Amino acid sequence: MKISLKDAIEALRNGKVVGIPTETVYGLAASLHNVQAIKHIYHLKNRPEVNPLIIHTADIATIEEYAAEISPDFHLLAETFWPGSLTLILPIKENRIPSIARSGLTTAGFRIPNHPLALQVIQKTGPLVMPSANLSGSPSATLPEHVENDFGLNFPVLDGGPCNKGLESTILSFINGQWKILRLGSIAAESFQNVLGYLPEFLSSTGSKPTCPGQLFRHYAPKAKLLLGSLSTMPEGCFVLGFKERSYPQAKRLIVLGSLSCPDEVAENLYKALRQLDTEGALQAWVDIDFPRVGLWQTIAERLAKAAKQDNEDNKK
Ligand code: TXA
Ligand code: MG
Repeated sequence: MKISLKDAIEALRNGKVVGIPTETVYGLAASLHNVQAIKHIYHLKNRPEVNPLIIHTADIATIEEYAAEISPDFHLLAETFWPGSLTLILPIKENRIPSIARSGLTTAGFRIPNHPLALQVIQKTGPLVMPSANLSGSPSATLPEHVENDFGLNFPVLDGGPCNKGLESTILSFINGQWKILRLGSIAAESFQNVLGYLPEFLSSTGSKPTCPGQLFRHYAPKAKLLLGSLSTMPEGCFVLGFKERSYPQAKRLIVLGSLSCPDEVAENLYKALRQLDTEGALQAWVDIDFPRVGLWQTIAERLAKAAKQDNEDNKK
């Protein structure tokens, strides 16, 4: 149910959970200081409580109040990329942030979103926790209708139209003297090189001690089984996710992700396309993954790989 800015602010102040647009994906918002509302987020999403939430603020000063320590180059990153699709993990003052929001960790993720509606809400309500507004495991929501689809037509959503980035924020954490990428996201890894003077390493979640709890869980997956490949592997008569420039004559139905020359467009459309498969009742779809592995394409490839993982693999802990 689409609600006004005024009603969204009032509902959050009254301890309700509300869908809020950001430039990356829609968030399921609750006030950082309302433990009951935060518990309700975990319940609604069916999200394991060991998977912490990102704290969204409207300014850097608020983050500094919560941080126990400011990691080197924090201000450089913050001033370059905020407001924007970057989440920075910092050690926190434990008495200032409810344990449930951070799953009992001594760190928390912070982000200042680059969306006028999200910023206007936060300026009135104070900091909000906002996981992506999808059922745990499903593709994130990039339209208000996606939020209604997952949480019901009566669920309150502030309508910001389509999210123009379409992929979640990139998460960085300062570990052993350097910033490392805990989650690839809508800021490409290479974008940090000029700012930091080095390319931050991506710590994928395969190690025994995860640095980003969320990376352990099944993610971004439609109900359809996804087969990833290049043209020569394409089966006959299948749903296909592909690119404008290519033709897929054996496809039963083609969903165009965008242009091979515009990864931003593909990122924006990716979750919408995955959700479209479910809307159309696809049991199986073939995805063209013959694209370069640089910049934003790296994030797109990683999301597709996760979406294609099956339940019986080690990804639904
Ligand atoms: O773009 C985004 O970041 C969106 C919008 C709504 O802002 N939010 C989002 O939240 O993607 P969520 O909950 O879907 O993903 C948050 C990720 C999870 O993988 C979680 O494990 C990780 O952030 N995270 C949160 N706090 C952390 C911490 N202290 N240390 C390591 N990872 C953390
Ligand atoms: Mg999520």
